[in-house]
Amino acid sequence: MPRAALRKPSPDLDLTRYLKQPEELPETISSQTLFGNDRPLEIEVGSGKGLFLQTESQRRPEHNFFGIEIAQKYAAHAAARFARRELSNAMMLAGDATPLFAPFHAESMQPTLHPRPTDGPPRIADGSLEAVHVYFPDPWWKKRHRKRRVLSEANIRQFSRTLRVGGRMHFWTDVLDYFELTVELIAEIAPELGVPLPETQRDSNHDLDYHTHFERRSRKFGIPVYRVYYRKRA
Ligand SMILES: C[S@@+](CC[C@H](N)C(=O)[O-])C[C@H]1O[C@@H](n2cnc3c(N)ncnc32)[C@H](O)[C@@H]1O
Repeated sequence: MPRAALRKPSPDLDLTRYLKQPEELPETISSQTLFGNDRPLEIEVGSGKGLFLQTESQRRPEHNFFGIEIAQKYAAHAAARFARRELSNAMMLAGDATPLFAPFHAESMQPTLHPRPTDGPPRIADGSLEAVHVYFPDPWWKKRHRKRRVLSEANIRQFSRTLRVGGRMHFWTDVLDYFELTVELIAEIAPELGVPLPETQRDSNHDLDYHTHFERRSRKFGIPVYRVYYRKRA
């Protein structure tokens, strides 16, 4: 299903605090380096229009929310939502999540990053995140394209590496095959994430009262949504 065209954010809106490019990132991604405080940090990979981040950052001001969206226009759209509401705990990166989650000292990952003024590429430290959220990742239907999926073997290992003990990984999709294969894969390669825990569907009270825009679309078309989360064990 094609995505609707996006309007550009108003040029009057100052996105400096809310929208970062990879070359602007600090060497270590943390609440301290991004937001200047020590609140728990939650990262969403593939934020689209940013509905989840907007809602959750307002609902839980005691946490910081960092969205990573590879499509520049969508990242800017999400950042504009935060700027209009002057949110102090939400920020977008317009870029690819995969190199950011690469392990520290993985020299082979460096060429994929933009040149930066500091010494090393930006990285996320082991056991530092409160949660990783992946909602409705692109399905890449063809078998030969599956390696492009965000929930690849390599990324699952890295998401798990960056979570603190007790931290959560959320995964929702409307693609049953992606859901089943991922749940199997996690059990095989990341047993420290424990068993998949179900997440229940909430009733919506208004037109934007959904977890994400893709959840809204699926539910409006009557398409089943598969929801699960994991809690990392010691
Ligand atoms: C199907 S959309 C879902 C958007 C949103 N999560 C939702 O549920 O409404 C998937 C999004 O992931 C983004 N994406 C895909 N690969 C990515 C990557 N490697 N890093 C960051 N974003 C990515 C795409 O640009 C797209 O906006």
